[in-house]
Order: sequence, then C-alpha cells, then structure tokens
Amino acid sequence: MATNRTFTMIKPDAVENGHIGGILNMIAEGGFKIVSLKLTQLTLADAKAFYAVHATRPFYGELVEFMSRGPIVAAILEKENAIEDFRTLIGATNPADAVEGTIRKKYATSIGENAVHGSDSDANAAVEGAFHFAGREQF
Ligand code: CDP
Ligand code: MG
Repeated sequence: MATNRTFTMIKPDAVENGHIGGILNMIAEGGFKIVSLKLTQLTLADAKAFYAVHATRPFYGELVEFMSRGPIVAAILEKENAIEDFRTLIGATNPADAVEGTIRKKYATSIGENAVHGSDSDANAAVEGAFHFAGREQF
C-alpha cells in the first residue's frame, strides 16, 4: 500500500529567484497538506550527508556546493500516494524534459539548479524528513 508522506526542499536557486510563494501555492493546489515547514540553510557537511547516495556521481561536488550556497525551504508533505504524486507535480530532473504544468517546468533553470527536491521512496522520505525535523515539528 502506498504511504502518504514525502519530503521536499525548495532549493537555493528558487529561493534566490523569489519563488517560495509560487512553489508553495502549486504544492497546495496539488492537494498536499503541510506537515512540517521551515526556512533553513544546509552547511556543506549537511549537503554532503543528505546527498551521500550520489557521492560517486560526477555532479556530486557541484550539487553539494549549490545546495549549501543559500537558504532553502524544507517541508514534509502529506497526501494519498504522496511520493509518486509529488514526483509527477515536480516533473523531470532536467527542466528541458519536464512537462507543462510541473514545478520544474515553471521554475527550474537547469538540470542542476532545478528548483525543488522530491523524495524517491517511502524509506527515503522518512530519513530525509527526520534529517530536518524533530518529531514535535511534524503535525
Ligand atoms: O532530484 P531528482 O530525484 O529528480 O534527481 P536525482 O537523480 O536524484 O539527482 C539529485 C539532484 O542532483 C538533482 O535534482 C539535480 O539537482 C542534481 N543533478 C545534477 O546536477 N546533474 C545530473 N546529471 C543529475 C542530477
Ligand atoms: Mg532523487
């Protein structure tokens, strides 16, 4: 059975470009309830730990520099079938491949600076949510 929580970040590019409100609005319009929410910033060490699964990929260094360069919005979201539905809402990793109406189509500027993160599995959503939020911050 599909579980109902996912984890997202509005990435530094989208925060810098003033898109927090626009992206949160698309998330709300998509039927997601906000369980946790904050403006925060990853240290380089935080970003390396968060993206450890990509440590051997050629883009890892650039990714962790980017993700720690400015504030992000972190959030836990709830909806039936949250993981899959949120991946549909954000669109493809590369905005050139993202379909019309998706967050990345509207707000991403490149495959690296692609505006938002979305968890890829229930297990990762739980780990990523716990990385940012204590139990008492999850509503
Ligand atoms: O974020 P998503 O799950 O769609 O993609 P990923 O394959 O898990 O990669 C994580 C992040 O690394 C992406 O969102 C991009 O910011 C970055 N990335 C990149 O810079 N260059 C790539 N070729 C692939 C990913
Ligand atoms: Mg991913």
